[in-house]
Formats: sequence, structure tokens, C-alpha cells
Amino acid sequence: MGNQKRHEIDRNTQVIRVNKMNPERTHIESAAQLLRKGGVIAFPTETVYGLGANGLHEPAIKKIYLAKKRPHDNPLILHIGYKKDIELYARDVSAATKKLIRAFWPGPLTVVVKKRKKIPDAVTGGLDTVALRMPDNIIALALIRTSGVPIAAPSANVSGKPSPTTAAHVYNDMYGKIELILDGGRADVGLESTIVDCSVDPPVLLRPGKITRRQIEQVIGVIENDVMKNGSLFHKPKSPGLKYRHYAPDARLILVESEPPAIKSTINALLRQYRTQKKRIGILAFFPGHKYHLRKNELLVNLGMSTYRASRKLFETLRYFDAQKVDIILAESFPLSDHAIMNRLRKAASEIIIANNKDGPLL
Ligand code: TXA
Ligand code: MG
Repeated sequence: MGNQKRHEIDRNTQVIRVNKMNPERTHIESAAQLLRKGGVIAFPTETVYGLGANGLHEPAIKKIYLAKKRPHDNPLILHIGYKKDIELYARDVSAATKKLIRAFWPGPLTVVVKKRKKIPDAVTGGLDTVALRMPDNIIALALIRTSGVPIAAPSANVSGKPSPTTAAHVYNDMYGKIELILDGGRADVGLESTIVDCSVDPPVLLRPGKITRRQIEQVIGVIENDVMKNGSLFHKPKSPGLKYRHYAPDARLILVESEPPAIKSTINALLRQYRTQKKRIGILAFFPGHKYHLRKNELLVNLGMSTYRASRKLFETLRYFDAQKVDIILAESFPLSDHAIMNRLRKAASEIIIANNKDGPLL
């Protein structure tokens, strides 16, 4: 799947394979040097690939927005190399924040905290808070520590596209736009970090991820939830980036939510409908028992019900359908309706159909 132009070296964008257990010093040194010089490079994290620049250097940060075509009011996460460095960039760090960091760093958790003055507005979009994270990836940590600066990094996709989980995905989106991609293999988690706003009391969940609300509440007690449900138009999210349509493949994604039998019959009905319109169809399934009778030219990817595997492969699968020039993706809902996978699917969807369980499909 989608590993087309791997290790090709271009005049503009160089891809360097790095050992993820024991990163080669020379590779890390040259990447760190590029960062210190104000360059933009892509690097692996445990969640997805990031597009990094020196987080204290405004002109470098602006290059990230340009490469991604990212709206300027959508702030970036600052990646740090040590837990204690939170004090360098945040003020009034609460006891709850410290507990979260102790429990989950390094790892796929981002905390939003009050920022210190030295952080440029280009990172925070002018907010008085900053999002901080210490990634659980040896290459990422080596890069941050060696460069000696915090790395501002959004996911390394073109804005609005699914986040990249391999260097090949980054290459497809960023070819010719950035100097270097560090290839550390497939991202282990596959979904972006959980974001918790810790600048308010009680803290607020802004984006779900591998670390669940329940895990967080076990550490700091009850938090609020500001995750945009069902892409409601009336909900004004507190995290600036979450108001945009996200993670979207080029294909039109139709998400069918319900109990398994209704999902299956609704997808079959949609399959018949779009077949007559001569659309190329891809089905994204999760239920192992669901068989669809496909014709030549129609595609099926079944990711199964393991949250680990489905998370890891979700964005890759959306990109695979695009590479296969699919027009319509018919997606089953993931069995756990409040899992981060469902949050990403709802945001990628052009349309959500709530299939009626009792009376069959509402078509
Ligand atoms: O796993 C991840 O978090 C990956 C890897 C590369 O670390 N990064 C990532 O970054 O997903 P990005 O830019 O794609 O998503 C960051 C989100 C955006 O929705 C942004 O609006 C939100 O974090 N954010 C950043 N600073 C914020 C702040 N001060 N207050 C509220 N939300 C903030
Ligand atoms: Mg992103």
C-alpha cells in the first residue's frame, strides 16, 4: 500500500532512512542542523509524522503554514524533549497537568497550558495558551534534544488530508516543499495525540486519541468534553483547528452508523445505488463477519475490530483508496462509537447516514 516513491532522493526533498531503535548520529545531527538554520523537516512520532521547525523562530514556523497550506489561526503543537522543559514554555502549570505528564509522557498526549512570552505568536495563533507534547519516539526525542530547541510541528500532511503514518505519505504531500524527511518506518499509533486543555479548571478534552477520556479521568478526576460530535454545525469548538473538515480523502466518504445488520444492509443498498452511477467504490469495514459481494473494480479493506490495528491503518487506508482513484468510500462505523477512530471518520465524512436498525435502511 502506498509506498510508491520511497527512498528516491530529489534535488529538493531528501528522504533518509533512520534506525528507529538506535538513530544514526550523523542523520540526527544533519537534521538538527537544518532545524537550527530555520529549515522545515518531516520526522516520525509515535502518532503520525510531524512537519517540524524551530518553535522559537518565527520565519521558520511560517514556512510550515506555507508548506501545509494551513490556515493561520490554527496553532501548532510544540514538541519538547524532557518533561521538565514544560516549565520553560508554560506558566502556572497546575497540579493536574503535572499528574497527566507523569502518567502519560513521553506519549500521545498533548496538554494546552498558559504560554510564556518567548513563544512566538506564529506558534499559538495569537492565543495566550500553547499546546505541548513529549513524543514517545526515539528519533523524535533525539532530534529535539540534539537541536536544542522545541520543535513546532503539525501533522505532515497537506491541510485537510489524512495525517501521514509513513514517510511515503509525507513524500506524496510534501515533495518539493521541504528539504528533508526522516523515515523511521510506520507510525505505531496511527492517530494524532489526545489533546487536553489544562489551562482551565476542570480540564477539557479537545481531541480524542489513543489515551482515552477514561484513562485521563483515572488520573485527574472528571474532565469536560468538547469533542465535536457528528460534525455538528452548531458546535463551536474550543480548539481552533477542530472547526475545519479534516482527515478527508479526495473520495467522497459516506459513513454508515448503526448496529451491524443495519450497517451491512445499508451499505449493500448504497453499493447498488452507486454502481448504477458507474462510480468506483471502496468499502471500509471493521466487522470481521461482514462479506460484501463485490464486482471487479470495487475494493474492500476490512480493518477488523482491534483498536490498535484499526487506528494504525485508518489513515493509510483512506490514502490507499485515493491512490486507487476511488470515487466513493462506503465506511462502516467502528464498533466503539466514542473511540477516536469514530471521531476521525466523522470528520472525514461528506455524509453520515444513521441506519435504522428496526426497519432496515433509511434509503
Ligand atoms: O499527534 C499529534 O498531535 C501530531 C504529532 C505530529 O505530534 N500533531 C498534530 O498536530 O496532530 P496538528 O497541528 O495536526 O493538530 C494540532 C491541534 C490542532 O487542532 C490545533 O488547533 C490544536 O492542536 N491546538 C494547538 N494549539 C492549541 C491551543 N493553544 N489551544 C487549543 N488547541 C490548540
Ligand atoms: Mg493535523
